[in-house]
Amino acid sequence: MPASFRAIYWARTMTADRPCLPEAFTEGFGRPPQLVAEAPGRVNLIGEHTDYNEGFVLPVAIDRTVAVAAAARDDSLVSVRSLDYGEDDEFWLDEIPPIPGWRGYVRGVAWAMREDGQRLRGADLLVSGDVPQGAGLSSSAAIEVAVAGALAAVVGLELPRRQIARLARRAENDFVGVPCGIMDQFASALSRAGHALLIDCRSETVEHIPLPFERDAVEIVVVDSKVPRRLGETAYSVRQQECREAAKLLGVASLRDVDGAIVGRRRDRLPDAVYRRARHVASENARVLAAADALRDGDADRFGTMMYESHGSLRDDFEVSCPELDLLVELASKSDGVAGARLTGAGFGGCTVNLVRGDSIDSFRAQVIEKYQKKTGLGAEMHVCRAAGGLKVTDV
Ligand code: GLA
Repeated sequence: MPASFRAIYWARTMTADRPCLPEAFTEGFGRPPQLVAEAPGRVNLIGEHTDYNEGFVLPVAIDRTVAVAAAARDDSLVSVRSLDYGEDDEFWLDEIPPIPGWRGYVRGVAWAMREDGQRLRGADLLVSGDVPQGAGLSSSAAIEVAVAGALAAVVGLELPRRQIARLARRAENDFVGVPCGIMDQFASALSRAGHALLIDCRSETVEHIPLPFERDAVEIVVVDSKVPRRLGETAYSVRQQECREAAKLLGVASLRDVDGAIVGRRRDRLPDAVYRRARHVASENARVLAAADALRDGDADRFGTMMYESHGSLRDDFEVSCPELDLLVELASKSDGVAGARLTGAGFGGCTVNLVRGDSIDSFRAQVIEKYQKKTGLGAEMHVCRAAGGLKVTDV
């Protein structure tokens, strides 16, 4: 797809619900698509490194998505094009070898669905998205969930959204090889517009909590620090390992089963770093529940206070922050009209999430983004996000 075409595509789709993806499909595959499946990225408001400890998280899906136009084929070939990269892939459903990059997510989903015994057929797929990549906004969950939705829908398979999320996670864990928890795929599949999604990662039950922020003109502002998350994957696995060790030494199935008081009383059983990891998870779980209460009460300031506390705990106890993220949060805390700020996602770079009054967005830019650039030389990027709905499949 020529670059100029892509530019036109985005200019039009940002305002008119992507009318050209089906046209581009028809142009590329020589026949119209059956449907478009669209799934969002997410930003986590609070509850970090708690999902794989069977705890609580509170993400929102954002209005940045991956869309997949699709039509079934008569054979078992999956033929995929990325509109954004101008790249292709092809694989047969009966033999799906791993491959690096964006293709691995598509293949992984087909693989996970096949392993799960789902009825599949070959399909032509055209993929395009605007979720910022490598920033910790779950572009990978968005492509996985959208592809799963598309592959199911082209054969008329009505999979519950929860199952789509689980299959997408399986693709990421067992095919792509990233040991993530369930938060991102659940947020991408199950969110509701204008709501945050409280997930109990043990029972996998969810509650949609209305976001009072928009009524109070408080915006969700994501700031990409532009620090690449290079060490992220190794450090993420190490943290999971430390959490398992803490649970074992505390004699519980997972850190979900302890609160701060229990961790404190049993401190002498744990090496110092492992103790602090456990203290973070226990305190963060309590904060998520308290933050959910603040949301129900419509109290952005109380919510924001917990965001700052969450950041402090991630920085000092869980040790997944970095000087740049700390600086962004510190600058935000001194900026006018900011209720709260914290790092979001796995950490080690990536983004912060900020609650900013709508009339303070310009001063936020001056007091946070510009000062950050002066101090670090890095051009942080700001995304004002709306709380969007999860996976949507539309017949064309
Ligand atoms: C990554 C993972 C999530 C979660 C967060 C940390 O984003 O994909 O499952 O563990 O890190 O909260």
